[in-house]
Amino acid sequence: MSNPKLTVAIIGGGIGGLSFAVALLKARNDVVIDIYEAGETFSELGAGLNLWPRVLEVLHSFGLEDELYKYAGPPGLYKKMKFMKADQPEGIYWGEAPANMHGIHRADFLKVFVNHTTTGCTSHFSKKLLSYEDAAGRPVTLKFADGTTATCDLLVGADGVKSAVRSNMYSQIADEMEKAGRPSDVVQSMKNCMKPIWAGSIIYRQLIPREVLEKAFPDHVALDNPTFFQGKSKFLITYPISKGRWVNCAAIVARHDQYGSTYEGSWAVRVTNDVLAEEYANWDPAATTLIHLMDSPIRWVMNTVEYLPTYASGRVAILGDAAHAMTTYQAAGAMQAVEVTVTRTFRSRKSLTEGARTASFSRLC
Ligand SMILES: Cc1cc2nc3c(=O)[nH]c(=O)nc-3n(C[C@H](O)[C@H](O)[C@H](O)COP(=O)(O)OP(=O)(O)OC[C@H]3O[C@@H](n4cnc5c(N)ncnc54)[C@H](O)[C@@H]3O)c2cc1C
Ligand SMILES: *[C@@H]1O[C@H](CO)[C@@H](O)[C@H](O)[C@H]1NC(C)=O
Repeated sequence: MSNPKLTVAIIGGGIGGLSFAVALLKARNDVVIDIYEAGETFSELGAGLNLWPRVLEVLHSFGLEDELYKYAGPPGLYKKMKFMKADQPEGIYWGEAPANMHGIHRADFLKVFVNHTTTGCTSHFSKKLLSYEDAAGRPVTLKFADGTTATCDLLVGADGVKSAVRSNMYSQIADEMEKAGRPSDVVQSMKNCMKPIWAGSIIYRQLIPREVLEKAFPDHVALDNPTFFQGKSKFLITYPISKGRWVNCAAIVARHDQYGSTYEGSWAVRVTNDVLAEEYANWDPAATTLIHLMDSPIRWVMNTVEYLPTYASGRVAILGDAAHAMTTYQAAGAMQAVEVTVTRTFRSRKSLTEGARTASFSRLC
């Protein structure tokens, strides 16, 4: 009799969850994969993503880079990012990034992974995980908001910065520590890992069509060069995406003293331009032109996660923003979601053993 297959449940079908599913499908043919996504479909909110070279190597190793280039254009299309001190009427260019950037629309990047999870995995939509139970001698049980349940042998939480999986995991870790009589500050530090924290920053984002920028400011640096306009606690980051059709703009206003607090209120709302224009008054005209063209930006609250002592507990692991959401200054969060999961799935057996001490995870890795 053949061994029953190992069942892996992935919570969240974002870039982290789907790239993990693709990696697992490429690595093993003896697992059953279920993806549970809260949304009605796989989708990405928001605009552009910058891809750094490492992640292109990962896509190459999957044989998916050509699909990516269909959307994003070939390698070498985009230039290195330029840096400008811009919070003065005449800015100063002072350097450039060490590596080339590759701008892609988020939705397009996700499509590449969706295309390769349609066979080999089962996707379940409108399945918002509320909690799980990882009790000895039984499969892991998942409870969803619609009242249904499901089971799996291994649970992977790729459910983003607000992760229900992380929240459950750290609540359970805190409870166990409390029962074991650990000091209350240690128990509290585990509880602090449950919720996201505000990074103190607000980001205003908008895509500007290339021709609109060309008309307003012919030969603008941002048409072809990713550019980082910098000032004290304020930044404007731009890069072309989708073969140069749009210039992706993100203006960040940081209040570093607020790092670690909780932001009450909506995390993403569309706003008018006036607040933004005021923040960037008297900057270099290359920057203010872009700010002016961001006429109805979406205002995002940048949230992150405390440093976590472990990404796995029992038969449950977390990845992507659920595990290590980061601020956007290095444009690397999604890349980390892909690189870390893939490196773990394929190469580094040791890296998982730290957190996932159970035999099940060793079986997988
Ligand atoms: C303004 C901004 C700009 C950024 N720019 C870049 C960039 O240029 N380059 C880069 O690499 N990164 C960038 N990032 C970071 C990047 O967006 C994230 O790191 C990445 O999207 C994380 O992917 P993820 O799959 O882990 O989480 P998410 O994208 O958050 O996906 C989580 C998925 O889980 C689902 N879900 C959530 N809760 C549940 C639940 N309880 N049950 C079931 N499903 C659930 C959600 O619907 C979603 O589909 C940026 C982030 C921001 C905010
Ligand atoms: C989807 O994947 C298949 C191979 O499995 C490939 O032939 C096809 O071109 C891909 N679709 C897109 C839109 O890239």
